[in-house]
Parts: sequence; C-alpha cells; structure tokens
Amino acid sequence: MEPAYCDVRALTEQLAAPLSAEDQTVQSMPDTSPTKWHRAHTTWFFETFVLGADHVPYDPSFAFLFNSYYEAVGPRHARPERGVITRPGVAEVTAYREHVDAAVRSLLDGELSPRTCELLELGLHHEQQHQELIVMDIQHVLSRNPRQPAYGPLPWKPRMPVALDGWIDHPGGVVAIGHDGRGFCYDNERPRHDVLLRPFQVARSLVTCGEWQAFIDDGGYRRSELWMSDGWHSVQALGWEAPEYWSRADDWQRFGLAGSGPVEPADPVLHVSWYEADAFARWRDARLPTEAEWEAVAPPVDVGDDGGWYGTAWQWTASPYTAYPGFRPAPGAVGEYNGKFMVNQQALRGGSLATPRGHTRRTYRNFFPPASRWMFAGVRLASD
Ligand SMILES: [Fe+2]
Repeated sequence: MEPAYCDVRALTEQLAAPLSAEDQTVQSMPDTSPTKWHRAHTTWFFETFVLGADHVPYDPSFAFLFNSYYEAVGPRHARPERGVITRPGVAEVTAYREHVDAAVRSLLDGELSPRTCELLELGLHHEQQHQELIVMDIQHVLSRNPRQPAYGPLPWKPRMPVALDGWIDHPGGVVAIGHDGRGFCYDNERPRHDVLLRPFQVARSLVTCGEWQAFIDDGGYRRSELWMSDGWHSVQALGWEAPEYWSRADDWQRFGLAGSGPVEPADPVLHVSWYEADAFARWRDARLPTEAEWEAVAPPVDVGDDGGWYGTAWQWTASPYTAYPGFRPAPGAVGEYNGKFMVNQQALRGGSLATPRGHTRRTYRNFFPPASRWMFAGVRLASD
C-alpha cells in the first residue's frame, strides 16, 4: 500500500518535533487548529474508520474532542474552541498515537478486507493533508507572536521554481479531465469526463512578489474597479493592503517558516486570497485559469517542476468548487470528506511547498473559501 503507514505517521511526528507543548496547544484563529489536535484527529480517523466497531476506544471522550465534521459519527467539540483544550496534553496525545499505531500494525499483519484497505489508504492521504494543515496553522500561530519566531526547515527539500517567461498555448477542443482510476484519488476527482475548452493560454510561471509589489504601487488595493464586490468588502473590512504576512517597514518584509525577512521580488507570491488573485489578474488584463484549463496544460507531477506547478503555491482557479457531472460521494461516513463542502469555495490546483511529497496529483482538487489567505496559495495567470 502506498504510501506506507509507518512513514506517514512518522512524518507527522517529525513536523511536530520542533514545537513545544505550548506551541502545539494554541489556536490562533477559528480556521486553524492546534498541532496537538491535528495529531490526535488523524489518529481518531484511523481508530474510527479503520479499527472500527471491534476496537475498544482508547478514551471514550476522544470521539467528541477529535471528530472534525463527521455528522454520521456523532456530536463534536466546537471547532473555534479547540485551542482551549489543555487536557489531554501533548504526552497523552503521543500515547494515543502509539496505542492506535500498535493496533493498526497488528491489523496489517493479518488479512485485510478490500474495504479496510480502502479506508486505510484514505486515512494515510487524510493524514498527509493534515500535515500541510499543521504547517499552515503553526505558521499562523507563530506569526501572531511579536518575537516572530521561526518554525525552521521542513522535513522535505523545497523545490524552488525557475523563472520562465511566456505562456503555454492550448488550441482548445474537447479534453478529458478527472482521475483515470490508476492509483488513489479522492471521490471529488471522479468521474473523468469531457470538457469543451476555447483556445487559451496559461502562464509558464507563477506571479512573483515583484509583480505583486507593482500591483500594490499601482493602487491595486485601493481601486474598487479591479475587485469583485465581496472582495472589495473584504479589502475594506479586513484592511488588506498586501498579502497575508507582509508588513512594511522601510521595505516590505514577510513572515514565513524561517521567521521574518525581506520580500524577495523574484519569489512567487504566497498567501493571497482568491479575491486578491482575481483582482490582480484583472489588473494585468488577464484572468485565472479554470480547473479544466489548468489540468489540460499542467505537466505530470514526476517530470520536474520548473514552473512551480506542484511544489511552491497552490494555484487559485476561476472555478467554483462543485461536483463533476455524475459525482457520487464515497459510501459511508467518509462520504462527508469532500462532497458536502461543494458550495461557497473556489478550487485550487497543484500543490505547495508545505504539501508533503507524494501527496500531489494533476487531478487533485483543493478548495478554500475565497477570502482565505493562510494557505500557501499563489497565482498562475491565464488569458484568452
Ligand atoms: Fe481531517
């Protein structure tokens, strides 16, 4: 089974290792969750969906504390209140992880039903998704500290994109998008289906911080004509003047996993909302690619990443996150994984520097509300 259970579980612990118990307990806004919660919730997922009814729960209170949003599994603790939970502590969560790991490993020693195999694989991809959430969320936590502490290097090597000029032209026509059934995918990537595209082009590179500074200098955040109405409301209500984590001293500074430092003009811009991405594209007399356009031109994951397709910034698309024609949620409670979120969110494609290796696919559909900025999201332009 790919990826391997022990490797995925160990990587989560590696991500948490630089963090103190205090670091792991804080929730800096309702959208983020404490590291400790992620470590416990991913464990609860295996305990609930893989070990199942035959397993005696490690602690009966954990189902309430660590169920995220599965209505079919029962009531749960309020999401914005996750940061007030000091007990169980970090050591108890570690013991919970070890307990469930031992039970899953002994399950792996026996014969697994096809359904258990499916749920185990889903649990591994779920944990990889939470590994990125751990990185996003702790960056947000640390950014709120006036000392601007660094998280430090990630356990995997960042893939720095190469600046490439120009556009990839596509002639349009009927293209098939969606997962072809070889290997794992989430239910939201199916069914594969045909889409009719007009001729279009997509930029070879991501939008850079230097280009974003030009947008700021040209009054991008003060010109209502560039913005969707809801986006303009966000600019005013939230006081946006630059991407999340940017601040202005004499020059622009940005906060990141390595702490605070100058904005580097050649770096791809990160931490912009869909509203900002859309306004920037309009300012450039361009637009965002649709999901189908992105998928039609994106290179395969394993042929290099000079253009920053999978290892730098999730790329906002023009497409609302909705069901593909003929979509059916996965059976059982895990059918709540993707399908019920298919409203009021925009789709993002690719992957980011915080996405664990092996978790990216050309057909992968990420999604966030259009005002969200704490993800590692950037911009790839398209044009007619
Ligand atoms: Fe989850």
